Amino acid sequence: MGERREKMSKRIKKEVAVIILAAGKSTRMKSELPKVLHKLCGRPMLGYVLDLVGALKPAQVVAVLGYKQELVRKFIPKGIKIAIQKKLIGTADAVKTGLAALKGFKGTVLILYGDNPLLKKQTLSKLLDYHYQNNVDATLLTAQLKKPSGYGRIMRDKYFSICGIVEEKDADEVQKDIKEINTGIMAFKKEKLLANLGSIRPNNRKKEYYLTDIIEIFAKKNYLVDGLKIQDTAEAMGINTRAELAKANCLMQKTINDKLMQDGVTIIDPPSTFINFGTAIGKDTVIYPFTVIERDVKIGKRCFVGPFAHLREGVGLGDDVTAGNFIEMVRSRIGTKTFVKHFSYLGDCSVGSNVNIGAGTVTANFDGKNKNYTVIEDNVNIGSDTVIVAPVKIGKFAITGAGSVVTRNIPDKAVVAGVPARILRKR
Ligand code: UD1
Ligand code: CA
Repeated sequence: MGERREKMSKRIKKEVAVIILAAGKSTRMKSELPKVLHKLCGRPMLGYVLDLVGALKPAQVVAVLGYKQELVRKFIPKGIKIAIQKKLIGTADAVKTGLAALKGFKGTVLILYGDNPLLKKQTLSKLLDYHYQNNVDATLLTAQLKKPSGYGRIMRDKYFSICGIVEEKDADEVQKDIKEINTGIMAFKKEKLLANLGSIRPNNRKKEYYLTDIIEIFAKKNYLVDGLKIQDTAEAMGINTRAELAKANCLMQKTINDKLMQDGVTIIDPPSTFINFGTAIGKDTVIYPFTVIERDVKIGKRCFVGPFAHLREGVGLGDDVTAGNFIEMVRSRIGTKTFVKHFSYLGDCSVGSNVNIGAGTVTANFDGKNKNYTVIEDNVNIGSDTVIVAPVKIGKFAITGAGSVVTRNIPDKAVVAGVPARILRKR
């Protein structure tokens, strides 16, 4: 099997070009933001599709962009060609646009959709393997769904061969009962795809050029059309609405949490723990319920986080840190063995090691115009309810009394208190 897989990867590297369709609007999302930029676990859904392509390593990749392409192209890595679909008149036209960027390429064209972020690489490898083993002209990835509504249905003839795809909007009652759906993922022999795309007409309710119509054209010409059914139907999910986005988010969250637990993180209650994509958490850290951890946060080993903690972008916790109940942190680094146990807001700051931040401590980091930085050095003891008005630096071993308002830098070992805080003595 390993050898076969290796052969397959080599073939993909040489013979497969991927076209990612991502030109569509956000009509059913009722959004101004292009659909593919809507986020799953803190990351645009297109990012997951791009990762998938990155892992597949095909010979060439073209992303077809259209609606607000200037926003979407920022997310497209170098090495991926961009083709602009001028008028959004359907998936067949989008593929035609993509193919124009693949002039001279011979081989297999794999179509992916930018709104299909849960798809896995193994599934694509299987699809391509099947496509090559059986020398198929068009291999469709299909799925058997209990509730197929919204998707194109796979039509089969009396020999059970695929003879077409009918979109939900154009389907009659009998066709709507078909449970096998088109995921949209298809592998084609490029020459045949190119030669027949032009025959597609916009004869449907939406008056669009549907890529799915090519299947009937192929079948009528006796080209070999075949389907591979996906095992995990969640992977098939295309996201068109906010409700589907929420459902996919939930599935993606489960994947992220499962992986963290597998890597040695304790998550007391996974369903109430929201950890974004790209977060790194060390072994033996415990995450308590109702915690939100945003993108690219780094957490060390043996930390305690939550319950009800909100760690936002740019947060890094060293090892053995406690970020306890009702904490919000943003753009802040916290050193090892530091405690921030109860109701605190730390924004734009650097906190050293062995620091104790008392309950209710707040960094006043925003002066109405700018975000200002706070430095708290090692072994500091911040009394409860201290307000730290940034920019300010609190030196090593300093202590602030409960209720202090710190407006000026505090030297090492100073003990301060009051509003504004004044030096009482040195330690
Ligand atoms: C499509 C399929 C349907 C399938 C479903 C799977 C067609 C006609 N229908 O329907 O059979 O069950 O996906 O999720 O293909 N796009 C463009 N340019 C366009 C139109 C669309 O690039 O002019 C892109 C979109 O950005 C999206 C993808 O193509 O990423 C699919 O388009 P969408 O409108 O979401 O198709 P569905 O109605 O979901
Ligand atoms: Ca879709």
